[in-house]
Amino acid sequence: MARTTWVLGNWKQNLLREPARNLAAAIAEGLSAARGEVQDERLRVGVAPTFLTLDTVAPYTGEAAIQLRLLAQDVAAQESGAFTGEVGPAMLREAGVRAAIIGHSERRAHFGDHDTLVAAKVHAALAGDLDVVLCVGETLAQRDEGEHEAVVISQLSAALGGIQDPAMRARVVVAYEPIWAIGTGRTATPEQASAMHGVIRSWLASAGLGADRSVLYGGSVKPNNAADLLAAGDIDGFLVGGASLDARSLLDIVSAAAAHAAANSGS
Ligand code: 13P
Repeated sequence: MARTTWVLGNWKQNLLREPARNLAAAIAEGLSAARGEVQDERLRVGVAPTFLTLDTVAPYTGEAAIQLRLLAQDVAAQESGAFTGEVGPAMLREAGVRAAIIGHSERRAHFGDHDTLVAAKVHAALAGDLDVVLCVGETLAQRDEGEHEAVVISQLSAALGGIQDPAMRARVVVAYEPIWAIGTGRTATPEQASAMHGVIRSWLASAGLGADRSVLYGGSVKPNNAADLLAAGDIDGFLVGGASLDARSLLDIVSAAAAHAAANSGS
């Protein structure tokens, strides 16, 4: 069976309420046309606004396969309780969120989201009925030292190694985001990304998470490089930062992903 293709926009700490509403409305309005013939689960499209604008964006999202999905940029590692400043899985579910991005390199670098905390967040999210988009990726120095594969494998095994329940394992998507490619305009080449995706997929298979899991790429994805990255073979879609703040850019990336999904499913 062909793997699901994804396009997810990570809005990061951007957009007050009105621009968030306008952007969500514009994406939702153009989504069906951008999907072309792929009006089903072969292609999943979502956005992750800030916690405070989830309610603003929620009306433009939904649970149907062809609708825009609502994601959160993070989630607490605990279900609920005395954890000042945190937002738990049940609160996100109630807001209409279906999945949480966990372990983004910006959280790892600036907010102390180390491997143990990332693993706890993954468990809390899955237990709380949220799907997980787990981010992994190396620094430029680690790549230059030839450590990039080992770094990514160690992040994967720390975050996912302890998940025993097959139903939970099936709800994890991995996003490879080389840190040196995020917000820099310097995209990994299709060969670099595809090679790492192969490594990630082998690890997922060997850890019993299934060889059929989608693996996404993130890092300076734009409309003009999306098709080339997808053509490399092992890339099942994108986690998009800067380009997701513009409806036309995101929808153009969705169109490239739809063409990929259609070709892969043989339709
Ligand atoms: P850019 O697309 O802005 O490089 O950001 C990528 C990213 O971090 C998505 O999570």
